[in-house]
Amino acid sequence: MCGIAGYIGDSPCEEILLQDLYKLEYRGYDSCGMALLCNKKIETIKAVGDISHLSSQIGGHDARIGIAHTRWATHGKCDICNCHPHLSMNGKWAVVHNGIIENFKEIKNTLLSKGYTFHSETDSEVIANSIQYHDKTTPIQAIIRAVRHMRGSFALAILNADNNKIYAAKRTSPLYVAHDGKCGYVTSDVATFIGKVAKYYRMEDNEFAIIDTQSVTFFNSSGQKITKELYSIGTEMELSSKGEYPYYMLKEIHDIPKALKNTYSHIKYSLDRTQLLKLLKGKKNIVFIGCGTAYHAGLHGAYYFEEIGYHTESFYASEFYYRKPRIDRTSVYILVSQSGETADTFACAKYIREHKGKIIAITNVPYCALNNLADMVVGTTAGKEYAVASTKAYNCQVIAMLTLAVIVKDIPVDYDRYIDRLQFDYDLPDITGYKKIFFIGRLADYITCMEGALKLKEITYINCSSIPAGELKHGTLSLIDDDTLTIAVCTNSDIFDKLRNNISEIRSRGGHVILITTLDDVDCDVDSIIRVARTSNEFDQISIIIPLQLLAYKTCITLGHDPDKPRNLAKSVTVE
Ligand code: G6P
Repeated sequence: MCGIAGYIGDSPCEEILLQDLYKLEYRGYDSCGMALLCNKKIETIKAVGDISHLSSQIGGHDARIGIAHTRWATHGKCDICNCHPHLSMNGKWAVVHNGIIENFKEIKNTLLSKGYTFHSETDSEVIANSIQYHDKTTPIQAIIRAVRHMRGSFALAILNADNNKIYAAKRTSPLYVAHDGKCGYVTSDVATFIGKVAKYYRMEDNEFAIIDTQSVTFFNSSGQKITKELYSIGTEMELSSKGEYPYYMLKEIHDIPKALKNTYSHIKYSLDRTQLLKLLKGKKNIVFIGCGTAYHAGLHGAYYFEEIGYHTESFYASEFYYRKPRIDRTSVYILVSQSGETADTFACAKYIREHKGKIIAITNVPYCALNNLADMVVGTTAGKEYAVASTKAYNCQVIAMLTLAVIVKDIPVDYDRYIDRLQFDYDLPDITGYKKIFFIGRLADYITCMEGALKLKEITYINCSSIPAGELKHGTLSLIDDDTLTIAVCTNSDIFDKLRNNISEIRSRGGHVILITTLDDVDCDVDSIIRVARTSNEFDQISIIIPLQLLAYKTCITLGHDPDKPRNLAKSVTVE
């Protein structure tokens, strides 16, 4: 959700910033831009679309100080006017912003009444003009005073034409700073530091920084200098490449076995069972919270924990937070998030924490805002995921919860043999001709249908939805005709007869059906059957999602779309 990069040092910075933007592109790719400090003048270059659109404008500036941005639009359409960096009216300040300034209209009206002019529809432009308005003593004081009046979230990198420095400020949205004694960097993802520095600083909320060629100085919101801890860039941060695959999504699907083994053994051998049991002592209820794919993984977690005797509930983070439920002392809250920085999930964590609830965070990054608030962190160690549509991280979230449940019950299991049975070579049908696609299943298969439908709609833009198979006759059956495709998922022989009845009801109305199943010898009237190797009741959900992920990918490619960068979406959603 918007990526920020900044560089100050002894090398020309355009290419450095461009390469950083490519690494941050997963955070948004609606438009991008840079502000470069050239002889006490700020020059900007901007482009609509992904980073490749900016590359033709690179190389013409002799700048060693610059800030850059890749945008996921929240306020204002994707055009050049709304593209970052934004300049203050006098051109002395340039700002790149990640987050949302919730009271920007109020601030804008005040500034308009004082004669300030604006060129964009964004909330971010008010930051640049507010800083100009407060620019009375020192640059850092101007920034501190300007953001004091702002509600909402921000990570900011800022240039001032008269100072060879980069300024940074943070509230809620992530921001990191590094310095090697000669060059300074700022970023919204530590991945851009790899290969440049070994250590970095994590900015906390309401902290500010001044970065020059010699060093970095941090300040609190009163303008007092503060000292901060340095962190090492871990080996888990290694950058990944597409390797032999044309897209990250396909590579990440094929990474699933390795990622599952990593996650499973990491949890099995490093999780402190005594600490987990202490956390669960006296607890009857487990509440799972997440967004998108992570929410679906949480639904599977709820099944696993129900099976070992807990009462469970699952919530979309955005629903949980605004419902403001009572935080119960007999509950543990399991928050699932690949990035650990999704704003809705983080807001729930803050709320639960404020009300003294206990949190287990399941995340795919060693450091993130969510981990900071958790009583216990369970890492999915799937490796970095670049494609916006989550695949391997999802499978790892599901195995993480399965592993947690078996650790609680002390059940000996060996998932390696199931992982070795995963298949990736399926003869998948061409479904591009359908305008309406339904996914049906019962019990845990229905959750897999939800995830399969989300994957398909995210990257193919085909209108599809998931329905518990038993619910079809209560409404959705009216949409079935010979233009519709239904994808039925079944791993459970106890409910196959019921699912077959639902399939017959669809077939009687001319609907087309593909059955995806781990069951042998199923006798069913469908257009085609995709067979998936059977593992165990619980593990089958991890294997049967793979043909659905591959089907979404294949359909996306056939339709000519980019699976790694679906329109309108971003991987990391840091606004509520
Ligand atoms: C975005 C992504 C989804 C992801 C969701 C939750 O919407 O496009 O793929 O499932 O955020 O992300 P998280 O990082 O919290 O798992």
